[in-house]
Amino acid sequence: MREELALFGGEKTACDPFPPWPQFAQKTFNEALEPLRTGRVGYWPGGRGRELEKCWAAWVGARHAVCCSSGTAALHVSLVALGITEGEVILPSHTFASTALAVVHAGAEPVFCDAADDGTLDPRLIESLLTPRTRAIVAVHLFGTVCAMERIVEIGRRRALRVIEDCAQCAGGELKGKKAGTLGDVGCFSFSQGKHVSVGEGGMIVCDDEETAMACRSLCDYGREQRDADTTAPAHVRAGFNYRMTEVQAAIGLSELERIDTWNLPRRRGYAKIYDHAFSQLTGVKSVPFNSAERQNAYWKYPLQLDLARLACDGQEVRKAVAAEGIPECGMPMPEAYEEPALRKWGRGRCPNAEALRARTVLLGLSPSWEKSHIETCITAVKKVLRVFRR
Ligand SMILES: Cc1ncc(COP(=O)(O)O)c(C=O)c1O
Repeated sequence: MREELALFGGEKTACDPFPPWPQFAQKTFNEALEPLRTGRVGYWPGGRGRELEKCWAAWVGARHAVCCSSGTAALHVSLVALGITEGEVILPSHTFASTALAVVHAGAEPVFCDAADDGTLDPRLIESLLTPRTRAIVAVHLFGTVCAMERIVEIGRRRALRVIEDCAQCAGGELKGKKAGTLGDVGCFSFSQGKHVSVGEGGMIVCDDEETAMACRSLCDYGREQRDADTTAPAHVRAGFNYRMTEVQAAIGLSELERIDTWNLPRRRGYAKIYDHAFSQLTGVKSVPFNSAERQNAYWKYPLQLDLARLACDGQEVRKAVAAEGIPECGMPMPEAYEEPALRKWGRGRCPNAEALRARTVLLGLSPSWEKSHIETCITAVKKVLRVFRR
């Protein structure tokens, strides 16, 4: 008997709403109130921003960390600090627009590179895009999948290009035991609403080079000279911004960082294993997200690639049908950056692999706030949809 999809009037797989993300620890509520009690709510009068920098640097394995107001600010400041204020920057088209917007803000031109089958920047295509004006590569660890950084860093070193990692979606991903963010020259994180560590809005820059860290810190602080305690007003030595983080954000971040390795990441990785087991041999599925002993995925989302040749519909119909079953977050990856109206003028042709990836991908959630039963419900819904649409 043919099952009736909820999309066509059948019964939904999930009737109850899923728990939202972020979900804060009880301790976080108390910590977030403390700056309000003391009145020290700004970065300089408080101490939590600097404490979060120390703890994040130690957790990531970088010498320096500088917190800021968003992931976009982190990217912008990193590019400016590295002197990428002109010339060309190679980055994937398959990313959130902000990666490319930061390049434009810094004064450089984005050059879009196609994606490999794992959804990240394809290192085999980078060299064909190099020109005498190329200054840097921005690699994006999309949805938590760690890029093939060894190849990317090798090209960067050989061609004297800076390598920046956009880790907005990849807190905790690893390559051979080194965390994403420490593989290139600078790593940029986001703490916005849906991210691994959410403080509302926020970002972090990590690097090993002291001069770069100082420049980032200064650029986030109106371009002021950064010195230890001094009685005279610091000079403004750069045309900087005000991208500082508030103490309430830092307090939330500090508290949630405490359980990233005991709760947040283990849950994501455990749920990904359950999805992998359910989907890797399923008809209608082309591939599950890339993960290996060397390249450990941080599973921000679970991009499931459909085998459209085995289905009697397109990816959009599958996404609609899964959503109609009551499954949240099962959207489509964002448009290619060169399709965004604000970025179109930098498009130099299409990135066909990235477009095909987008057409066949269903994003599934694996929020730590969910229980195993929620993952099982998502699996039931996807299996039901693929059974009905199978050719
Ligand atoms: C890949 C990527 N880069 C950069 C950003 C920008 O981060 P923020 O929203 O904190 O500015 C995001 C945010 O969603 C992102 O997904």
